[in-house]
Amino acid sequence: MKKLVLVGSTGVIGKKVKELFGTDYEVISVNRTSGDYQLDMADAEAVESMFKEIGGFDALISTSGYGKWASIDEHSIQDFHDGLNSKLMGQVNLVMIGRKYANAGASFAVSTGILAQYPVEGGLSLGMINAGLEAFVRGAALEMKEMNINAVSPSFAKETMELMGMDSTSGVPAIEFAKLYKEAIESGKSGEVYHVS
Ligand SMILES: NC(=O)c1ccc[n+]([C@@H]2O[C@H](COP(=O)([O-])OP(=O)(O)OC[C@H]3O[C@@H](n4cnc5c(N)ncnc54)[C@H](OP(=O)(O)O)[C@@H]3O)[C@@H](O)[C@H]2O)c1
Repeated sequence: MKKLVLVGSTGVIGKKVKELFGTDYEVISVNRTSGDYQLDMADAEAVESMFKEIGGFDALISTSGYGKWASIDEHSIQDFHDGLNSKLMGQVNLVMIGRKYANAGASFAVSTGILAQYPVEGGLSLGMINAGLEAFVRGAALEMKEMNINAVSPSFAKETMELMGMDSTSGVPAIEFAKLYKEAIESGKSGEVYHVS
């Protein structure tokens, strides 16, 4: 059975990804506070130790990472660094370190978000992080010739809007995003950013 490393398996989207892949893949769950491995993906040493223990794997999906959601006046310089360390560099760590341990032909999918292209008030940190990560994915795809790397860019999940107490009428069910990770991992393409159309 193919082995999938799933970072963020307990989240709104990660839970659906785990369900979708669970029948065809052995899923290794990674989170900060639960799962087969517990670490902060921003900690490169912890990420390296995890991959050493796991050994070869066929797919890696990250549905994880923090970025501050707040107005420009509520953003400190440190807030930008915190988001860059977590959602941007955390996922870069997973790819840069994971590729050394991955099996030939392995496939990676990381999470960006719609704010990269469509800014909204409060989303400046996450928009910056998402755009940077998409640029990383395109650049890495050019050089990772034996493996695939893609991004999935969710819009607002219905379940997340409900958790935030918002009107979720315009939200997309998280399972629809989970299907994009499956496409990203299995399409054979590289350097793509997958959206719900
Ligand atoms: N949900 C949306 O509407 C939406 C929209 C656009 C983009 N996105 C992006 O899609 C991804 C998934 O979103 P989500 O809403 O499903 O997230 P979520 O519900 O907040 O869950 C995040 C998951 O990642 C783990 N995690 C968080 N930070 C981590 C870290 N530094 N190291 C290791 N594990 C970590 C969490 O587990 P622990 O708490 O145990 O660490 C949890 O399993 C994120 O990158 C998010 O920015 C989501």
